Amino acid sequence: MSVAKRLDPESERRDFIPVAEPSLGEREVELVTDAVRSGWVSSIGAYVTAFEAELASRCGVDHAVATSNGTTALHLALAVAGIGPGDEVIVPSLTFVATAAAVRYVGASPVFAESDPSHWCIDPEDVARRITPRTRAIVAVDLYGHPADMDALGELAAGHDLVVVEDAAEALGAVYRGRPAGGLGRLGVLSFYGNKLITTGEGGALLVDDPALLARARLLRDHAMDPDRRYWHGEIGFNYRITNMQAALGVAQLERLDEFLRRKREIAAVYRAGLQDVPGVTLQSEADWAKSSWWMTTLRIDAAHGVDREEVAAQLRADGVDSRPAFVPIHLLPHLRQDGSLPVAEAVGREGLSLPSSTSLTDAELEHVIGSVRRAVTRG
Ligand SMILES: Cc1ncc(COP(=O)(O)O)c(C=O)c1O
Repeated sequence: MSVAKRLDPESERRDFIPVAEPSLGEREVELVTDAVRSGWVSSIGAYVTAFEAELASRCGVDHAVATSNGTTALHLALAVAGIGPGDEVIVPSLTFVATAAAVRYVGASPVFAESDPSHWCIDPEDVARRITPRTRAIVAVDLYGHPADMDALGELAAGHDLVVVEDAAEALGAVYRGRPAGGLGRLGVLSFYGNKLITTGEGGALLVDDPALLARARLLRDHAMDPDRRYWHGEIGFNYRITNMQAALGVAQLERLDEFLRRKREIAAVYRAGLQDVPGVTLQSEADWAKSSWWMTTLRIDAAHGVDREEVAAQLRADGVDSRPAFVPIHLLPHLRQDGSLPVAEAVGREGLSLPSSTSLTDAELEHVIGSVRRAVTRG
């Protein structure tokens, strides 16, 4: 179907089009109100239990442990996996900084790996080159919603006795070789920040099958208080709990996840069709074994064609369209610097631009964004 035929140019267009915004409706108001009226506003309550059960089922795992945000879920994942000082954890450089920060929280050292040139997730061949006797884990990130090549990473991990953590913060609802993202490693992590596939305001979850890891995650999430002996804490724990009010929002949002995923996929397809003939512009590719959540449609703008990413962002801004640069590869940040170059991660970091990708975008808004990118690039 052509873009022109599918888009409805008569639909509304706002003066300012945000890069991301949550979609919150009456059902969300209803369930959060119910949580407030029930009096169960802290971390005990029926919505927390229901939210965890539904998340586990959506991600094909036995259990979900809801947390205060995705970063605390990542910290919990590495803590329950027993990663600590002296250990190395291989992570992609091209990701949000929380992936590496969590490695530092447990006292381990992040080792940054290169990205695949087409889907931009961690490159398993480069991971293999970076394994040392100190390597204990790999954190794979499903970047912008595209699943990492988890089978290749799983094979490497099995050969070296490593734990694989899947950072699926951006990928709830994505699919890898027929299996749901989030449940593909020994431990998985989700985020429910306001710009994510579903939101709880702030929030996250740890996904796990192993009952021993589950028990440790629950223990550490709740101050390491002995479940059978009140105020007995055998070690230092955290308060990483989610509230029942947030979980109520999450339950309502999960009811709409399939609708959100459909629209995200549609938005990416419209951008792809509308920009495919523009020289120097390429979208993140979707591998034939993957179904991305299309959390954020992100493109690369090759400056060799005369216009760079900043100029396109400036044109978008002038046209009332928000955008986001790609993540700065973490090995370039001063306090986490790693010697040696990672050319793919650096190129995507330099050239990448995320376009507005909210499920609430109207067809007229999509058309306007495409027109603005085209104007910027053809001007160069
Ligand atoms: C890949 C990735 N990991 C971790 C996080 C951290 O999640 P949160 O913001 O909920 O702490 C985010 C997003 O914010 C992310 O994009």
